[in-house]
Amino acid sequence: MSIKGKGIVIVGGQWGDEGKGRLVDIMADSCQAFARFQGGNNAGHTLCIDKKTIVLHLIPCGIVRKNKLCIIGNGVVIDPEVLLEEIAMLNSNGFSCDHKNLKISKNAHVIFPFHKDLDKRREENLTEMIGTTKRGIGPCYEDKAARFGIKINELTNKERIFEKITKIFSERGERKENIDKIRKGYVERACALGEIFQPYLVDAGEMIEEKLFLGEKVLFEGAQGALLDLDHGTYPFVTSSNCVAAQAAIGTGIGPGWLSEILITTKAYCTRVGEGPFITEADLKTQEKWRSQGNEFGATTKRPRRCGYLDLPALKYAARINGATGILLTKVDILTGLGPIKIAIGYENAKNFSEALSMLENNLTVYPKYLELPKVDEFPNDIFKFIDLPKSIQNLCQLIEDFIGLKIKIISFGKERGQELWMV
Ligand code: IMP
Ligand code: MG
Repeated sequence: MSIKGKGIVIVGGQWGDEGKGRLVDIMADSCQAFARFQGGNNAGHTLCIDKKTIVLHLIPCGIVRKNKLCIIGNGVVIDPEVLLEEIAMLNSNGFSCDHKNLKISKNAHVIFPFHKDLDKRREENLTEMIGTTKRGIGPCYEDKAARFGIKINELTNKERIFEKITKIFSERGERKENIDKIRKGYVERACALGEIFQPYLVDAGEMIEEKLFLGEKVLFEGAQGALLDLDHGTYPFVTSSNCVAAQAAIGTGIGPGWLSEILITTKAYCTRVGEGPFITEADLKTQEKWRSQGNEFGATTKRPRRCGYLDLPALKYAARINGATGILLTKVDILTGLGPIKIAIGYENAKNFSEALSMLENNLTVYPKYLELPKVDEFPNDIFKFIDLPKSIQNLCQLIEDFIGLKIKIISFGKERGQELWMV
């Protein structure tokens, strides 16, 4: 089976952790190249291959397939130490990864240890906590926007890094006597990392466009999700990049016309990790059960994820801002044994999610309106067709399609390859 289109984008329709990585892996056979276009190692994409678990933070999930090209686009912020570790982890697990199958945009910005320190320091102020992953993502994007960020292409240029770090430190009000001390260690290490990554650097847009022009399929792999988008999410409790599909073009350097299929991923319920509003959050006891059943712990930070009911108006909003052409539905099996399936189909005091967002930003409470479907007592082992799914799950799928006005293209239930139904 395969999905039509040239540039295929997989994005999160919720607050991240929808199972995008696994979906990329499911669709990997029919694609020749894979690209990340935003975020950094705040992402955690979990793959289960032959009972082995591989967690990727920076490298596109296509890397676990042979003879596929993986590209880290200009929109990604790269912690070079983490990237180095990830490459080593893949090779030690039998997945070859080097400059031949992994390419990095020369324009991607670099996360330095001082970005992480700043991220951590801010999170220590409990009253202003966002609940970030403390990976330095926000501070790195800040420097990029302030126009003194450091690109991976510059890492081998000692004088330039020296100058830029001095600038960043003085802009951040660092005491003069500290600057010399800190700067020295960073510059040496940055140059060493720069040398290592030099063979990986390319013009990512040019490379991707060449593939698309030849009729090859490229899969653009989103990180985080629509509700964490810097412009369209639950601001300020969001990440520092745009996570919606349009960013796939900007964050790799191709024109948006190449993106022909935009698939929005959603779990059959909702989770959120970190602070911020969550209209359909379940009570604490239900959350606990849900969390252990769905293994809802952060792949990056191991933090327990908050759990709640599927919020259809929020998903509809996410589909709209992404320009979605189809839905990927994951984790339908996790609803088993959790009581009647509750789904938010509207709000008591807001006409849609956009209005709800404005209310949330003004500290007002939004009350969900729920519809219930009968509980699922047992999830069958063998599922080959849609009608093999429990009746309530079938009804849930129908409800999602009708509400959003898009078809579900893949339904997944389990962690291993093959535990999915293609609906196209
Ligand atoms: P940051 O991206 O580390 O700055 O964190 C900002 C917000 O986004 C926090 O609520 C994080 O928990 C959340 N976040 C960032 N990356 C992910 C992800 O990959 N999955 C889920 N939540 C994420
Ligand atoms: Mg994740």
